[in-house]
Amino acid sequence: MTNDVNQKQTGRRDFLKTTSLIAGGLMATPLMSGANYFSGADDVIKIALIGCGGRGTGAATQALSTKQNVQLVAMADAFKNRLDDSYNNILEALEDKKSRVQVKEENKFIGFDAYKKAMALADVVILATPPGFRPIHFEEAINQNKHVFMEKPVATDPAGIQRVLAAAEKAKAQKRNVVVGLQRRYQTSYRELMKRVQDGAIGDITSAQAWWNNDGVWVHPRQAGWTEMEYQMRNWYYFVWLCGDHITEQHIHNLDVINWAKNAYPVRAQGMGGREVRVGKDYGEIFDHHFVEFHYADGTILNSQCRHQKGTMSKVDELLIGTKGKVFCDAASIKDNKGGLIYQFDKKNENQPYQNEHDELFDAIAKGEYKFWDAERGAKSTMTSILGRMATYSGQMIEWDKAINSGISIMPSTFSFDAMPPVQPDTNGMYAAAIPGVTKYFA
Ligand SMILES: NC(=O)c1ccc[n+]([C@@H]2O[C@H](COP(=O)([O-])OP(=O)(O)OC[C@H]3O[C@@H](n4cnc5c(N)ncnc54)[C@H](O)[C@@H]3O)[C@@H](O)[C@H]2O)c1
Repeated sequence: MTNDVNQKQTGRRDFLKTTSLIAGGLMATPLMSGANYFSGADDVIKIALIGCGGRGTGAATQALSTKQNVQLVAMADAFKNRLDDSYNNILEALEDKKSRVQVKEENKFIGFDAYKKAMALADVVILATPPGFRPIHFEEAINQNKHVFMEKPVATDPAGIQRVLAAAEKAKAQKRNVVVGLQRRYQTSYRELMKRVQDGAIGDITSAQAWWNNDGVWVHPRQAGWTEMEYQMRNWYYFVWLCGDHITEQHIHNLDVINWAKNAYPVRAQGMGGREVRVGKDYGEIFDHHFVEFHYADGTILNSQCRHQKGTMSKVDELLIGTKGKVFCDAASIKDNKGGLIYQFDKKNENQPYQNEHDELFDAIAKGEYKFWDAERGAKSTMTSILGRMATYSGQMIEWDKAINSGISIMPSTFSFDAMPPVQPDTNGMYAAAIPGVTKYFA
């Protein structure tokens, strides 16, 4: 079906060019009015999973659990053990849909170049490696004319953001659906809150707060026999080129919510942060806390905090403060400025946003609709988090325009397990972290 899918959709592109429905990219665009795109016996939508870790396994399982006739036909990972575990875990999770896993041994690809071969076999690709690789993988997926589900963040540096933005334009021109795993955008409570914000329930937003404070995540200590590249790839969370630091890897969710509510992105940021508790050679080079003041063009200030320190207060949430009231996102409520309840979302009606991302994506693909173009906003919310990181690492006010156009790249130039990654340990196995006041991005 793969070539067929692309052929049919390409064939409709001329029609699409003339339809006013797509003006501004605001409406679902039927590629074939009323008809089910994947109909009849040959209605299989083939998927390839790139990055077979925890989230990739979950995302593939969710794609295979949609109503459409989705089949997993190829998998790619840097490491064989991760791919094998994922394959087994997907099969186990699927229960009555196990027949949807159709990955022949020769279609399990290992290594840095594995993604290209796996993508070629599919209609839709799931990108779930550490985010440093996302620009390379997304660009290739769009060059191969695939629909995409890609996890957040979508890059770790400004050069990667530009690459994603360029591929996003191409995806739009080719009418490829792209969903980014910022799942609050697919969550019923958030959608209900945002609808009311956009209808003026709290007046103009003048400030906001965002939190991702908790204990932190897993660590994979170095093992004998690993090269430096293998070590950093296995323990990727603690290396900025792979992960982006936790302000990018996790706090992006909260920053994206504020950008969504503002329908804008910050123009500058300044902040503070450091490594205070989570130190030691297993923890690479990332900070364990960041506090950033983001400025929007209209004067709105977002105070954002994220912390990975065991034993401290946990809070993952967003607060919007407007001229007429406030939105408490986690509580899913809206109150006026005297504390009176304006709206309370009934949490009994909450959906499963991780599943819904795939339900909506595969429904659109099966109907031949062009409905999702999340890549640009995913890139700009990723850039918001990178802006914050540049502010905390340097201790300077960082301008959005200067940062996004800086061309700064922190990725290696060569990908192989014998190649040297961009950061190296000292003789004690310790990595240099950024030092506010010393670390500089601009002359
Ligand atoms: N939306 C969410 O709530 C959510 C939740 C968890 C993770 N994520 C995102 O999903 C992504 C993956 O996170 P995870 O928790 O699954 O990590 P993970 O370590 O469990 O999985 C990553 C996988 O990618 C593989 N990989 C690394 N480099 C590769 C390459 N160049 N080519 C192919 N495979 C490669 C690794 O070997 C590993 O199997 C991250 O971007 C993370 O931020 C999103």
